Amino acid sequence: MPSDSLTIIDNRTGKQYEVPIQDGAVRAVDLRQIKTRDDDAGLMSYDPGYINTAPCKSAISYIDGERGILRYRGYPIEQLAEKSGFLETAYLLLHGALPSAAELDDWVSAITHHTFIHENIKKFIDGFHHDAHPMGVFVSTVAALSTFYPEAKNIQDEQSRATQIVRLIAKTPTLAAFAHRHSVGLPYAYPDNDLSYSGNFLNMMFRTTEVKHVPDATLQRALDVLFILHADHEQNCSTSAMRNVGSSHADPYSSTAAAAAALYGPLHGGANEEVLRMLRSIGAKKNIPAFIERVKRGELRLMGFGHRIYKSYDPRAKIIKRVADEVFDVTGKNPLIDLAVELERIALEDEYFVSRKLYPNVDFYSGIIYEAMKIPVDMFPVLFAIGRTPGWLAQWQEMLLDKEQRIARPRQIYTGPEVRDYVPIEQRG
Ligand code: ACO
Repeated sequence: MPSDSLTIIDNRTGKQYEVPIQDGAVRAVDLRQIKTRDDDAGLMSYDPGYINTAPCKSAISYIDGERGILRYRGYPIEQLAEKSGFLETAYLLLHGALPSAAELDDWVSAITHHTFIHENIKKFIDGFHHDAHPMGVFVSTVAALSTFYPEAKNIQDEQSRATQIVRLIAKTPTLAAFAHRHSVGLPYAYPDNDLSYSGNFLNMMFRTTEVKHVPDATLQRALDVLFILHADHEQNCSTSAMRNVGSSHADPYSSTAAAAAALYGPLHGGANEEVLRMLRSIGAKKNIPAFIERVKRGELRLMGFGHRIYKSYDPRAKIIKRVADEVFDVTGKNPLIDLAVELERIALEDEYFVSRKLYPNVDFYSGIIYEAMKIPVDMFPVLFAIGRTPGWLAQWQEMLLDKEQRIARPRQIYTGPEVRDYVPIEQRG
């Protein structure tokens, strides 16, 4: 008998089972031997929302939700946010190690030289309504990339995978910026290879008549840090969507589009957008207590608060608060920051939030920074998607190379009617 094991007594039958424990987990499939009859399919674990189910082993990001720790490949998020750049962090997530100077040069050069998109993509962006949500445009255009690169379906080919990964990281800012330009009726601004990844994104967002648009260095760095903070977060909703769709061996563009679609929801990446709308609707500090009472009555949620895993302060929110000050030095202070700080203070003194361990998450302050940078609210989840793309791709590749992974196909507990005979329409009551 293994020393690390779980003894289970099935009180329905009186039978006893030994189930091995490895890495702090039992294998759900080991429960299948627990049966009441020979034709019984075996015991399942019921876990809506996958609250306590690990569908994979992963070496990419580590979270300790009680202690507010986030690490990428072992490196604390605080160190990466201070010392690394977004493309270096993307390399780290994808390759498992920080690059040498030569490797980083090659990587940055490859990304920089894949930022252009096929001219036909502009034509179908043109087909969207002017008020189309940019996240809808983003999801559709990322999915459409698969039609431009049909070889991407060779997911077992290492070289092809590497090429699609570079293309996706390089082209998502272009698609995002073009979605914005379309929504405001401006001509598309093409990538500028002289600029940094974040600088080029700001250039494509905001360039107008100037020959060269060089965004403020502080804003470039702030955006880079925000992208780093969003780059991976283990098995969240969108990453699970990426892995689920990818497990059917769909190409990476289709899988990334699925992940972005999952991110769109207001309980996930759409929350930063909702935070801004919430702060605007509160309007003034004097309205906060009444707002908090409505939240406590269950009428609405305090957006940007709470997290499935973090039960103490989200470490990303702490870093973002610092970045906000640097951005405001350039842009002027966003008045919503005072409202947000006061809302946080009042919430964190309130028994409702304290007892439920609800703290600000990454989205509570990110939108305030984006707004100060003149990025429209609709674009907030799109920015999240740009930052998360390397994480999705690292998780997708890890899933494909993991021999234990199979097509995602959960079980269910059937609660519908027993078998019944079809009734012709004229005989139905
Ligand atoms: N405002 C008010 N109450 C909340 C909030 C909130 N933001 N979040 C959770 N609660 C309450 C719930 O009502 C519940 O209370 P109850 O026990 O009295 O019923 C309790 O806290 C537990 O909440 P759950 O919904 O069970 O927690 P879950 O882990 O399923 O949800 C989630 C996590 C979705 C993030 C939730 O906290 C939420 O909706 N937050 C607001 C949206 C948000 O900011 N999302 C961004 C998450 S971070 C990210 O995706 C990058």
